[in-house]
Amino acid sequence: MTETLIPSITLNDGTEMPAMGLGTWKLQGEEAITAVRSAIELGYRHFDTAVIYGNEEEVGRAIADAIAAGDVTRDELFITSKLWHDHHGEQLAQKSFQDSLSRVGMDYLDCYMVHWPWPKKGAFVETFEGLAKLQGLGQLQSIAVANFNAEQLSAIIAATGIAPVLNQVELHPGFSQAPLREFHATHKIVTEAWSPLAQGGALDHALVCSIAQQLGKTPSQVTLRWIYQLQASSVPKSASPARQAENMQIFDFELDDSQMQALTALDDAPGGGRLFADPDLYPGDD
Ligand SMILES: NC(=O)c1ccc[n+]([C@@H]2O[C@H](COP(=O)([O-])OP(=O)(O)OC[C@H]3O[C@@H](n4cnc5c(N)ncnc54)[C@H](OP(=O)(O)O)[C@@H]3O)[C@@H](O)[C@H]2O)c1
Repeated sequence: MTETLIPSITLNDGTEMPAMGLGTWKLQGEEAITAVRSAIELGYRHFDTAVIYGNEEEVGRAIADAIAAGDVTRDELFITSKLWHDHHGEQLAQKSFQDSLSRVGMDYLDCYMVHWPWPKKGAFVETFEGLAKLQGLGQLQSIAVANFNAEQLSAIIAATGIAPVLNQVELHPGFSQAPLREFHATHKIVTEAWSPLAQGGALDHALVCSIAQQLGKTPSQVTLRWIYQLQASSVPKSASPARQAENMQIFDFELDDSQMQALTALDDAPGGGRLFADPDLYPGDD
């Protein structure tokens, strides 16, 4: 078995989660299976899928094959999926979870997330409550959200007494989510970066490239190390074993304070800001 090189972080419910996982959005069919298998061989132990990615079955099949081959055991893995907008509401959330579980073909999931708060629908509290009621019954270890703002997080904490273990949000050079990260820290919620490489857009940024050159690292390694030193987890996606390997080689060097500050200051530079949909506005009407 390959030695695991990615450190774990302890979530607010006591669960351990590898600080970096493989994002799987856009991985389909055989490509998804091959990508998950190669990531397991390299030492990835955390996989991020979602109902809407349409690849829960492939992610599950790759993991089952890896377990059958003796490459990894189920308890070494952290597998997460997310419910989509058409399953907001307590009962639909619970149904979505059961459907995900059967698609991945596992006895349990390590984490299940409300994918977007969809404030216009106004059902994210009940949706999260639906997941909270599944916890502790043996099929769902941790519950989480994605794309929630501080006000929405406060609402679900007030209603359930439970802070989600993490909030998966857009975060990359140019959009460091500073105020939300501060809020998360006060509630022991892990900030998890989605599109951490800005879907590749971060990798030709002049500052990122210049720091990479100074350190003898690659732009993706500098970007992912910056996120790690912000004390956030990340789920970079790559279909390529070489790039998967590159992305996880970030735990043997450090960015100094001035490099960290310069990268974080890209928020205020031209081109900074959110690249994708604003979760306060997306989706619109149902
Ligand atoms: N919760 C949410 O709402 C939400 C939203 C978006 C994404 N996500 C999650 O976050 C994950 C990551 O986000 P993402 O897929 O949007 O984008 P990303 O991880 O920022 O970037 C992926 C892109 O970068 C390329 N890439 C990866 N490593 C590279 C490297 N070392 N050098 C050069 N190019 C590299 C990939 O190409 P190759 O595959 O060809 O290497 C792919 O085109 C998703 O897969 C998904 O799991 C969640």
